[in-house]
Amino acid sequence: MLGAPSDSRGCFFVLPFPKCAGPPPGIRFAYAAMNRPYPRASSSLLVTGGAGYIGSHTLVELLAAGYRPIVLDNFSNSSSETLRRVEALAGKTLTAIEGDIGDGELLRGIFAEQARQGRPISGVIHFAGLKAVGESVEQPLRYYRNNVSGTLVLLAAMDAADVRHIVFSSSATVYRASAALPYTEDHTLGPANPYGRTKAMVEQILRDWSACDRGRRVACLRYFNPIGAHPSGRIGEAPQGVPNNLFPYITQVALGARPRLHIFGNDYPTPDGTGVRDYVHVVDLARAHVKAVEYLEQVTEGFTPINLGTGRGTSVLELVQMFERVTGVSIPREIQARRPGDIAEAYADPARATALLRWRATRTLEDMCADGWRWQSRNPKGYGP
Ligand code: NAD
Ligand code: UD1
Repeated sequence: MLGAPSDSRGCFFVLPFPKCAGPPPGIRFAYAAMNRPYPRASSSLLVTGGAGYIGSHTLVELLAAGYRPIVLDNFSNSSSETLRRVEALAGKTLTAIEGDIGDGELLRGIFAEQARQGRPISGVIHFAGLKAVGESVEQPLRYYRNNVSGTLVLLAAMDAADVRHIVFSSSATVYRASAALPYTEDHTLGPANPYGRTKAMVEQILRDWSACDRGRRVACLRYFNPIGAHPSGRIGEAPQGVPNNLFPYITQVALGARPRLHIFGNDYPTPDGTGVRDYVHVVDLARAHVKAVEYLEQVTEGFTPINLGTGRGTSVLELVQMFERVTGVSIPREIQARRPGDIAEAYADPARATALLRWRATRTLEDMCADGWRWQSRNPKGYGP
């Protein structure tokens, strides 16, 4: 039971979130939701990985829309400080549990406790996962265990609690690299690294899971390149160590934390020779999750893959130049060899998201640069002290 010692492996604590200085290390904790009115008070959602980059922005939107998110995160790539800031931004309190999606007993306890409190969990938004491509090549078993086995444990707990809706964080990386652009959801799958294969495997598992029970619903959201931050500058992307992705690398160069940007190749068959991607504002992405939850309440389809992107391609040089123009900060750069595994160009056909979710990305590349820089410049150490 939440609020009382649970088992031999740890205790739960129920604390009012704003007064809490943080959980003692290694101890599971839960923050009690205060008695604020929720328009959909009967609708609790389990949000795995909610303390991460995309999860935290989604929590803000879910709270604004009146949902009651229950966060489960092991903080392997995030910090509980993020959740405090989400609460401050939303003006509401959160329930958060430190724990792992691979812990079936914990999951069953969460589903049971919410039902006992008269607020049964009606669906899951599943962000929790490891996401670094290079690391997945070096430690494939860790990736398969965390992302694939973890999802199997989560689905088994959902089955036991009769929870049949899930929104899954997939990626454009599941598509086979090809010249046929833009990518529609019917594009051939063919991920090129273990990380991408974990996403494709979970997609297959979710297809099969939804096919064997008529009530099961899956929105499989394939993100293109989320960048930017909440316009408040209070939450954003906080990579540990050297950023793998372009945008956080640019912001760290702008800070002076890194001397220059390495541009991986200028000999691609693209207008300026640098790689082209579909950058989408993280707040637009977050709002798509609220739409996806609503969609699952209405749809009869079991498994629906949906691209989330703008439909526009932007090159590395275009993004760097836009960042410089918007922020007034110059980005020293040098051209290097292509990064192994990279492709020339990728962008989404987002028509299905518009048709099914009534969603389209509205924020511009200028917004992404301005908001991302506001976050990074005000929080040079991310969520650290
Ligand atoms: P993130 O690392 O910031 O967030 C993931 C969160 O999951 C973290 O808070 C981490 O602590 C938590 N987590 C990881 N494994 C866990 C486990 N076993 N149990 C409980 N919590 C766990 O990543 P993000 O950028 O917010 O991405 C969220 C999801 O979207 C991931 O599944 C990622 O693969 C996917 N995705 C991200 C991108 C991107 O560019 N950021 C693109 C495509 C897909
Ligand atoms: C990468 C991952 C992909 C993941 C996605 C998440 C690889 C091979 N792919 O995709 O699986 O889903 O992130 O957003 O890692 N670039 C530079 N300098 C840098 C970093 C990147 O020039 O320091 C270039 C890249 O060559 C690419 C573009 O910037 O052309 C975007 O790179 P990145 O942000 O890493 O995203 P993806 O490669 O699309």
